[in-house]
Amino acid sequence: MAEIALTSAPQRARHGSSMGQPLTRRDGPLKVTGRATFAADNVAAGTLHAALCAARIARGRVTHLDVAAAEAHPGVVAVMTPDNAPALAQHPDDKPHGFIFRLDLLQDSAVRYANQPIAVVIAETLEAATEGARLLNPRYEAETPRIGLDAEPPFTPPGIGVGQPPEETHGDVEAGLATASRRIAATYATPAQYHNAMEPHAAVASWDGDRLTLHTPSQGMAMAQGRLAGLFGIPPENIHIESPFLGGGFGSKGLISGPQILACMAARLVGRPVKLVLARSQMYGPVGHRAETRQSFRLGADEAGKLTALEHETLTASSRFDDFFEPAGGVSHTLYASPAIAVRHQAVRVDTGTPLFMRAPGEAAGSVALESAIDEMALACDMDPLEFRLANYAEVEPISGKPFSSKALRECYTRGAERFGWSARPKAPRQTRDANGLLVGWGMGTATFPALMFEAQAKAELRADGTGTIEVGAHDMGQGAWTALGQIAADGLGIGLDALTFKMGSSDLPNAGIAGGSAHTATAGGAIHAAGQAVVAQLAELATNDPASPLYGAGNAGFVARDGRLFRRDDESRSEVYADILARAGRGSLTATGKASTDPAAAKTYAMHAHGAVFAEVKVDPDLGQIRVTRLVGAFAAGRIVNPRLVTSQYYGGMIWGMSFALHEHAAMDARTGRFLNDNLGEYHVPVNADTPAMEAILVHEDDSHVNALGIKGVGEIGITGSAGAIANAVWHATGIRVREIPITLDKLL
Ligand code: MOS
Repeated sequence: MAEIALTSAPQRARHGSSMGQPLTRRDGPLKVTGRATFAADNVAAGTLHAALCAARIARGRVTHLDVAAAEAHPGVVAVMTPDNAPALAQHPDDKPHGFIFRLDLLQDSAVRYANQPIAVVIAETLEAATEGARLLNPRYEAETPRIGLDAEPPFTPPGIGVGQPPEETHGDVEAGLATASRRIAATYATPAQYHNAMEPHAAVASWDGDRLTLHTPSQGMAMAQGRLAGLFGIPPENIHIESPFLGGGFGSKGLISGPQILACMAARLVGRPVKLVLARSQMYGPVGHRAETRQSFRLGADEAGKLTALEHETLTASSRFDDFFEPAGGVSHTLYASPAIAVRHQAVRVDTGTPLFMRAPGEAAGSVALESAIDEMALACDMDPLEFRLANYAEVEPISGKPFSSKALRECYTRGAERFGWSARPKAPRQTRDANGLLVGWGMGTATFPALMFEAQAKAELRADGTGTIEVGAHDMGQGAWTALGQIAADGLGIGLDALTFKMGSSDLPNAGIAGGSAHTATAGGAIHAAGQAVVAQLAELATNDPASPLYGAGNAGFVARDGRLFRRDDESRSEVYADILARAGRGSLTATGKASTDPAAAKTYAMHAHGAVFAEVKVDPDLGQIRVTRLVGAFAAGRIVNPRLVTSQYYGGMIWGMSFALHEHAAMDARTGRFLNDNLGEYHVPVNADTPAMEAILVHEDDSHVNALGIKGVGEIGITGSAGAIANAVWHATGIRVREIPITLDKLL
């Protein structure tokens, strides 16, 4: 694999553990100087370019492609269609388990959604491939697509998201509503959203016999390897994936997509390396999205403002041919205490690409609705929104009854509210104007995201010169894994970052699981830590049995490994450098492996979640309805913080995505055709710097000895969850208008 020349930042930790240090990204200099190679940069001599031809209908079949016209175009080498696509060992609709998604790989003429790949043109240049794809001029037999949540009657799916049950209840909601002195019922809508990572899905594929090399951005190389192995009928170890950097993933690179696999098929067809990069519009369809939801709530509360019932029903959409469902109700399992809770999901099958996990799948869409409903209930009870949330604070996880492994949410509320100045908020809406006459509103929301663990392995080596290596097949989507995991690696080996060689981003390295579910630092980091500790244990064994070592016989006292030196835990004046221990033992190096996964006993006993509280200020033009977020303060508790600088960035990013959810993002589809109206970054709105408010992220201390060996929860996705609701509530507070259809755009305020 390619060596990554990581540059240590000036403020690197020279002494002591690098854990907890606010290091800058070690790959930053490579990225800002253009030396970081992303997948599409890997263009060896002789590489051909591929362009997709994407369906312009949403349902029906392709009746004709003008292959001859495309082939006649100068530079076109081949046109791959269902007639000549390489045979696959497995049908791409075979689904042995839920983490295999059905893919469109030119098996037949059917069109299941708009922008589905229907052919691939391979040419000497990108221009020739693109023009060849245009010349295919497909003809169709089109049927009327079934689009929207009212397309047909919903059904209860067997499982939602990645396997959660579609329905969970405790207590009697009807009885709880009957005894309530205040009730609300409200329905909120959230739109379809598309991941829109800055880097499009790209693949550069080459074959050597039955060995495949693939440069492609991946949040899960080992799973991609497995999927490709199944489809091509070759052993996984024949597949070599390089993915050192991603220009964003947001979930859409968690599973290898159809277009990435089509690049591999194209390379096999022509017997040359092939590069395929999706056009922006081609990312709307075959690479996943967040499905729209309609979420209906019924809440009841007693005279004291305590919830007596909470019902959260989600209607969402999945594709006609697969079954991922947005698990929006998850937040209502977790956040507020109520003697009666009912959470249900239903889905409608529509003619779109299959939805996929996207930026806090479930929690993001669920929490903007739940936090709005909680605000409406607080108002019905004539209580301050924070006071109401505190009155309904869940001391144990409401439905399961499990204690939390840790939960510093109360402190998040307190510190966030203090910093924001929440106590000065007038309870009634539309009370405040700024010097320019803009309406000012304040809102808050609770943030939550599960602390997940997947499975990972890592390999460690300590050498006689006091340096070490950690190898782990981990992924950096931009979140800073090269740095944070490097810090865990150096810490685990007890060496400085300067003495560490750190390898990740290749499928040749030990499987570190998926970089998703905000679990990568905990999971890959856990394996790294375990591998490092295993090597240090071997070193300690050598020292404690060596009469020439100052650590001789110290076995039971235990050791601390730091700065390339082993110390007696009970007497740090007795220590020895690694190099001397290894030299006397005649060992050039020591190696070990480590792994990490969920601790089933802890998972059975405890509910494990990160929490936070987000406070938002918006300003709304009373005449034009224009909304500006002017301030966001988030306070988050997510276990141990490996690198506060990177974690703060993750929270900022999450809060910006929350703002994006509340005010900007909306994939609009023409229901008559099933085609997109805004499949581009000009019209699919995401925040730019000018939209971004003053932001502050408070890192609330939290120790968690149950969640995993390092006490790490996730920080990648939680930021989005509280902020979207906080902004929706601030818009209400500014204007007195409750918009229940996300995104909140100016037309809805006039
Ligand atoms: Mo994230 S949606 O788990 O990549």
